[in-house]
Amino acid sequence: MDDLDDLAVFHGDADVVRFVPWPVRDRAATEEALRVKLTQTGLVAHGQWLVLAVEVRETGTVIGEVLLKWASHRQGEIGFAFARSHQGRGYAAEAARAMLRLGFDGLGFHRISAVVIDGNDASVRLLGRLGFRQEARLVDGVHFKDRWATQLVLAMLEDEWRERDGAT
Ligand SMILES: CC(C)(COP(=O)(O)OP(=O)(O)OC[C@H]1O[C@@H](n2cnc3c(N)ncnc32)[C@H](O)[C@@H]1OP(=O)(O)O)[C@@H](O)C(=O)NCCC(=O)NCCS
Repeated sequence: MDDLDDLAVFHGDADVVRFVPWPVRDRAATEEALRVKLTQTGLVAHGQWLVLAVEVRETGTVIGEVLLKWASHRQGEIGFAFARSHQGRGYAAEAARAMLRLGFDGLGFHRISAVVIDGNDASVRLLGRLGFRQEARLVDGVHFKDRWATQLVLAMLEDEWRERDGAT
């Protein structure tokens, strides 16, 4: 719960939550969300999300979070959100790579996907840097924040991971 102040900074930022499923959260709503996150500490069954806080090593400030869902048999889904003050510095890529390592090397996943709302260019760029390929573009694939939105499905396979970061 010590992370609440840090979390409230980006959970309450309309720019950060624009393309994620949650609304802009006030402190009370962030606290409620944090209570749920505190239970999401392991991946032992399909359907579970592991949610990890990302800290600046020197200060312990929480600047973002990275998520991994155990979606189905050896399949995962990744997500991330970072405080605006700490975007554009490579932190999200570093955290996402750690999560991919956990998924592919730790849990033996075969494929990890990400579903992005079309227009979330920073997210698509990040996934491209990580080595994700676009698999699909679902026109009006979801009703998202009061409008129909097009979804992009991107993914990486275990072989592709090993050819890149996994080999280093
Ligand atoms: C998606 C999101 C996590 C991407 O964060 P990010 O900080 O842009 O991603 P990275 O950590 O890879 O940082 C890379 C950027 O930092 C720049 N950068 C600066 N210094 C850097 C360094 N030392 N190392 C690496 N990158 C650096 C890169 O050039 C790159 O900028 P670019 O995308 O304009 O080319 C962030 O935009 C976010 O939190 N968005 C809101 C939540 C959201 O939409 N989540 C996704 C839902 S699917």
